[in-house]
Amino acid sequence: MAGKIPRNFIDDLLARTDIVELIDSKVGLKKAGKDYQACCPFHNEKSPSFTVSQDKQFYHCFGCGANGNAISFVMEYDKLEFVDAIEELASILNLDVPREQGSSNGPERTAEQKRSDYDLMLHSARFYQHQLKHHANSATVIDYVKGRGLSGETVKKFMIGYAPSEWEGLCLQLGRNKEQKEQLVELKLASEKTPGRQFDFFRDRLMFPIRDKRGRVIAFGGRVMQADQGPKYLNSPETRIFHKGFELYGLYEAKQAHKKLDHVLIVEGYMDVVALSEQGIEYAVAALGTATTAEHMHTLFRTTDRVICCYDGDRAGRDAAWRALENALPYLNDGKALQFVFLPDGEDPDSLVQKEGKEAFEQRLASADDFTKVLFNKLSQEIDLTTDAGKAKLLSAVLPLVEKIPSEFYQENLLEHLGRLIGRTKEQLNNRLKTPKQQHSIERKFKITPMRRAIGLLIQHPNLAHAVPYLPDLAQMNIAGIELLIRFLTSC
Ligand code: UTP
Ligand code: MN
Repeated sequence: MAGKIPRNFIDDLLARTDIVELIDSKVGLKKAGKDYQACCPFHNEKSPSFTVSQDKQFYHCFGCGANGNAISFVMEYDKLEFVDAIEELASILNLDVPREQGSSNGPERTAEQKRSDYDLMLHSARFYQHQLKHHANSATVIDYVKGRGLSGETVKKFMIGYAPSEWEGLCLQLGRNKEQKEQLVELKLASEKTPGRQFDFFRDRLMFPIRDKRGRVIAFGGRVMQADQGPKYLNSPETRIFHKGFELYGLYEAKQAHKKLDHVLIVEGYMDVVALSEQGIEYAVAALGTATTAEHMHTLFRTTDRVICCYDGDRAGRDAAWRALENALPYLNDGKALQFVFLPDGEDPDSLVQKEGKEAFEQRLASADDFTKVLFNKLSQEIDLTTDAGKAKLLSAVLPLVEKIPSEFYQENLLEHLGRLIGRTKEQLNNRLKTPKQQHSIERKFKITPMRRAIGLLIQHPNLAHAVPYLPDLAQMNIAGIELLIRFLTSC
């Protein structure tokens, strides 16, 4: 784990970033008096109520109330978390993000080195894209792509390409000197069996670039186009910029396609994501040939309120659903929904959506099963509920799962359901929970918001009042608790 980012770096970053330039590059601003204006990127509107102030380095939307500084803009607009937003701003300014000492292992790579890794991945993706159109095999590859029902637009959206059949295609193009060749090997785009002799890792495959949540190409999946040419998919192994269990294929593209992601659909394959997008379902993501991990669920529930998992109806699909369910429980806060869709035998989302079309497919999603149903279905299949022994067994299987859920509402729901099955009241079951519920609700009622923290700090260190900027600016901010903060500030 990297150490904390020092506070003064963040201040410095904000000081060096010009919010007008930043937002202008993403949204396009018009000057209006001494401020700048645009139609708000955070809600739909026809006349601009979104203003950016150069003096205050602050944006505000009079329509939807969105407001903040350069960091919050990047977080909201690019849908990034705090640390990623800091890295994004730093990379615009060509700065390394420093970390407080003590925790990282191995030599830190500089911003320069990291940038060159991402550049090489991007150039490789572009090379494969170019080959798709210009290689001698191009016609065959394009036939395959068309045969899978993909339009040029979708191919472009996902940057799909073709890795040429030669042993040295990419290597000749992008491995011009020793350093470049080594970098190709380090990023697993090339292999080196005999020292000094590199050859392409991906050959004669349809290439799916995998992008991280900032849109940077970090890995590839490559599909064979004819049977018996090795494993169906070859994926980039882990590298210094690619950590499989954290990434979701299609998430960047899904975020790009929507202002706000109301829901995200988890499917199994690259082709599923791409085929769904082709049919206008632009909110599917796929884990990269692994089970859905806790990190995936964490990422998804920070991006959306409703996650729908789509699996085969067979045994393997049910097992995968169960693992996803267990991994998702810790992220089920109030307002978050987890649902499951099981597909008919022999179908995957790709085949099904092509067969029945967008509407019918989305109908399946609309009638997805809530996780509660899936949870009890699975357990009551394994446990005989006609006996007391079975009821006790169900109780001890369900309670630990309930304890993992942060939402009190879901906890109570499950307990109610459990109570009905085993003949106990919700109150009786509640007492058996290990997580003290009262503690939960106290934490929730007294959530430490930045405002509460600011007020708390001020009470403990009144002299900090000097560090606070111009009061009238503060007074304009539409944040709960601001009046109280200002009263304290004035009396301090
Ligand atoms: P599928 O076999 O369902 O692939 O594997 P798919 O995406 O539907 O592709 P088509 O329709 O056969 O072309 C699901 C996912 O498992 C991983 C890939 O991520 C794939 O998308 N996988 C599968 C591999 O990594 N290697 C393999 O050999 C097969
Ligand atoms: Mn498939």
